[in-house]
Amino acid sequence: ILDAVQVHTPDDSFDLLMNRWLLYQDLSCRLWARSAYHQPGGAYGFRDQLQDAMALSLSRPDLVREHLLRAAGRQFLEGDVQHWWHAPSGRGTRTRCSDDLLWLPYAVAHYVRTTGDAAVLDERVPYLEAPVLAPDAQEAYGLPHVSAEQGPLFEHCLRAIDKGLTIGAHGLPLMGAGDWNDGMNRVGREGRGESTWLGFFLHSVLSEFAPLCEARGDQARAERYRNEAGRLATMLEQTWDGEWYRRGYYDDGTPLGSAQNDECKIDSVAQSWAVLSGAVPVRFADRALDAVRTHLVRRGPQVLPLLTPPFDQTAQDPGYIKGYPPGVRENGGQYTHAALWVVMAMAKRGSGDEAVELFHMLNPVNHTRTAADVERYKAEPYVLAGDVYAHPAHAGRGGWSWYTGSAGWMYRAGLESILGLRRRGSRFEVD
Ligand code: GLC
Repeated sequence: ILDAVQVHTPDDSFDLLMNRWLLYQDLSCRLWARSAYHQPGGAYGFRDQLQDAMALSLSRPDLVREHLLRAAGRQFLEGDVQHWWHAPSGRGTRTRCSDDLLWLPYAVAHYVRTTGDAAVLDERVPYLEAPVLAPDAQEAYGLPHVSAEQGPLFEHCLRAIDKGLTIGAHGLPLMGAGDWNDGMNRVGREGRGESTWLGFFLHSVLSEFAPLCEARGDQARAERYRNEAGRLATMLEQTWDGEWYRRGYYDDGTPLGSAQNDECKIDSVAQSWAVLSGAVPVRFADRALDAVRTHLVRRGPQVLPLLTPPFDQTAQDPGYIKGYPPGVRENGGQYTHAALWVVMAMAKRGSGDEAVELFHMLNPVNHTRTAADVERYKAEPYVLAGDVYAHPAHAGRGGWSWYTGSAGWMYRAGLESILGLRRRGSRFEVD
């Protein structure tokens, strides 16, 4: 598995991670064990392992395929999915989380594009059946029952997109009980809050799924998805805050991730995905990345926080993210997963040297080169930590190690974004 791709560059710390450890972490810890010191749970997270699997399209595409079908089997008839579940029973939670379901079509499109295996779209998988959430319920835990109704994987993806395509007052998708950032679970709990990040992500899903619809002769749907993507792009442009993109809107319409906020003025995921989605004009995307350079890249303590300033005293209630100490985990610590999206966005905009420099900065090998580094970082040099603290008292200290979706993304950032190797069916390209 580890030998499928071997790279040799002038940077030994890069090669060490790329040729061995990132894939090892991704496959053994994330996909297989789903456990580590900080999280010994063993559950599948709907969005989590779909992202992890995307890193395996060169070395173990069979495992990606298997996981796509496994995940599709955790989708309810209504199109929403279990936020997490335990195998083999299938017990898990049904929630109002807004992005989970969309990772299915996103990962499926990626798998088909990279492997050329469009036959997977015809694989039939049953749906799940359970009572829908009561209007006042945020989530329900239980064992849903496997429905007699099945559909091809393609149809599972359509149900996810159609359910995920919500529209709020600013024309953006609804945040629900949280998007990729699980801790922002109260931004939209009354059902009106919106997410800019989700808008960029949905734009990517729609744009990548439209060609698959076309290839299957569903011209009308392809057009509808393209039109929706176009509409979204217009609305997303309007979340420009003056120097960067806002992160979203609370239920009452107050912006989140805006210069007007006292805390969380800027959030990196709205900037990185502005670039990665290709939804907005590059002159704005470039300015958004400049704002990340100015406000979030910290070369002294070698961290790239998710947002700044952290939530602490604000009157706003974004959710349980505010319960973390400022500068820890999602609350303005370096959330490595999102830091890698910044690296990918920099590379995509042609700042290759800078992408390499940031990759080097995030690389745990380079946090543990001297005794003083080790004293500060305190985590393993060979696996990524999901977060690195930005809190001044612990700046640069590694947190939640091993069990982090950043391993697969770092592998892809290194291989696809920096080295430019992309698989396309039986061919590959080097960009
Ligand atoms: C955790 C969750 C993941 C979520 C991320 C950001 O890693 O497992 O699903 O997207 O945090 O909140």
